[in-house]
Amino acid sequence: MPQQQQQQQSWTASILSFPFMVIFQLIQWLADKMLSPNPPQHSARLGRPKVAIIGAGITGVTAAAHCVGHGCDVVIFEAGSKENLGGIWSRVNSTSGLQIHSLMYRFHPSVRWSQGYPDKQQILSQVRQLWKRYDLDEKTRFGTKVDKVYQDEQGRWIINNTSLGRFDGIVAAIGTCGDAKVPHIPGMEKFKGTICHSSELAGKDAAGKKIAVIGGGASAVEALEFADAEGAAKTYVLARSDKWIIPRNALVDILLSFNLLGRETALSWIPEALIRRLFYRDLQGIAPGKKSGRGIFTDTPMVNSDVMDKLRAGTAEWVRCDVEGFAERGVEVNRRARGVPAGGPGKHEVIEADLVVMATGYKRPQLSFLPEDCFDEPYGPPNWYLQTFPPTHPSVSAINCTYVSAIGTVGNWHIGIYTRILLMFLLDPLTRPAPFWMERWIDMTRLLKASSPTGAFDFFTYIELLWWFCFCVAFNPFRWKWAVFVFFGVGFALPKWITDTEASLRGGEQGGEGEDSRNGAGRDVGTSI
Ligand SMILES: Cc1cc2nc3c(=O)[nH]c(=O)nc-3n(C[C@H](O)[C@H](O)[C@H](O)COP(=O)(O)OP(=O)(O)OC[C@H]3O[C@@H](n4cnc5c(N)ncnc54)[C@H](O)[C@@H]3O)c2cc1C
Ligand SMILES: NC(=O)c1ccc[n+]([C@@H]2O[C@H](COP(=O)([O-])OP(=O)(O)OC[C@H]3O[C@@H](n4cnc5c(N)ncnc54)[C@H](OP(=O)(O)O)[C@@H]3O)[C@@H](O)[C@H]2O)c1
Repeated sequence: MPQQQQQQQSWTASILSFPFMVIFQLIQWLADKMLSPNPPQHSARLGRPKVAIIGAGITGVTAAAHCVGHGCDVVIFEAGSKENLGGIWSRVNSTSGLQIHSLMYRFHPSVRWSQGYPDKQQILSQVRQLWKRYDLDEKTRFGTKVDKVYQDEQGRWIINNTSLGRFDGIVAAIGTCGDAKVPHIPGMEKFKGTICHSSELAGKDAAGKKIAVIGGGASAVEALEFADAEGAAKTYVLARSDKWIIPRNALVDILLSFNLLGRETALSWIPEALIRRLFYRDLQGIAPGKKSGRGIFTDTPMVNSDVMDKLRAGTAEWVRCDVEGFAERGVEVNRRARGVPAGGPGKHEVIEADLVVMATGYKRPQLSFLPEDCFDEPYGPPNWYLQTFPPTHPSVSAINCTYVSAIGTVGNWHIGIYTRILLMFLLDPLTRPAPFWMERWIDMTRLLKASSPTGAFDFFTYIELLWWFCFCVAFNPFRWKWAVFVFFGVGFALPKWITDTEASLRGGEQGGEGEDSRNGAGRDVGTSI
């Protein structure tokens, strides 16, 4: 497309989106004013419960900001250095950015986005500002990888060893993307070009070159965008399995995440048919086949619209294939027709390339530092209470690191809700669920999703998550007083006061310093429904 025409289109888009951006700014301003807990005074003494937060990505920093905003002490343990504040976003290409609209990536009420699709720098800047605003620098231990957590005789959590303090609760926020995954593929050493992981594209010269991208996930699409922006001659995406791509449109993405059942249903053909007809159009051949069993609500879709333009323009090609090995000048593949499974019959080809991008994903960080009983089958992750609380330990919440696939987002409102449910469990023994009841909730969710093509917790939608929260709070009358706090982060004083009064009526300690642990019960023991 000529440059002038491109410029004209981008001006038209800016003018059309202007009213929407004004409303978005207003919503953000209101959310901040109404829902952000006040940052603590510098060096104010924060009380118990004291929470250990493992990981300083968006999830860990947000959970910590919520805790200290409500007067609860925290320590953040981060395996990486200070440069790794922001987690995975600190380690991706400078060209990386959000695929979903930032309306769905408001990880804290005080976050302020100035555009719909912020880039890596803008995301990191928001995380750093949040970290500073809530005075978390003195509360973060960088270079501290958590290898094990265990409890003392009072049920308090010890992180690695006793020198790091004792905690009433734990937020595991280790994410799902650890080190880059680069599988060895036969013949790699004889390839004459360059091979790099999809997170190492910065500075790579792609102008006028042929690029082969191994992998068919979100990073492959991002590599395709990078190659196009750098003026690559041609880019081949070598995908061994078919995944859904959905438009980069906030309304469409929000509507899809509004599937309350969180699974394929008899009506799923409607969004699938619409996306095929209106979005894929002439490129329906690259969408998962109708009889493939890969419905839109079975796996995390990629969110991208430009990829279709590039495929239509011929600057990119989507190759459904098995990667068999490397040749001197490219990648050897078995190109398969639609519907032929991986490893099935096809046509042997060498895809010539100067640069091969391994968009083969990331190793999953391990939760194995948690006690053994968190992994007892059939209640191992992601089959936990509300997906994040291991039934044996209601004082532990593994936020955003147990999920497999979803339509929704990782960086939104739910981080605060999970954190506040944890605080409610820690502060109020009458709300703290017993393992028996947590397991029954998991069984119930499995039953409701029994006919789903995926495991009950292997795929979920954002609205399903909200239904889980509503059920959790509504089910136990002792949680009702916490409802406004859990959902909106306001009105903490009232349920705290009621809990303290209840405790003194029972003749126990108050909900603040020393509660439970002094009578030996520990905040980790749930007895309620
Ligand atoms: C290029 C890219 C684009 C993405 N785009 C989107 C998007 O558009 N929308 C979306 O919702 N999601 C997106 N994601 C997913 C992304 O993972 C989340 O949005 C989010 O950044 C995850 O944050 P987190 O804090 O949960 O985990 P992370 O950012 O992974 O942070 C986890 C932190 O925990 C630390 N850690 C791990 N193990 C330990 C341990 N044992 N001890 C101490 N510290 C430990 C790690 O060092 C890391 O800093 C994208 C991911 C990538 C790679
Ligand atoms: N801006 C964004 O939204 C964005 C950008 C990048 C990443 N992310 C997120 O980051 C996470 C990781 O995404 P990702 O794309 O890096 O990883 P991914 O989703 O795990 O995809 C990896 C791809 O590589 C393929 N693959 C793996 N090993 C292979 C091999 N040996 N030979 C051939 N193909 C191989 C996989 O095929 P199979 O599927 O067949 O295994 C898959 O298509 C996801 O959660 C994603 O949503 C988001």
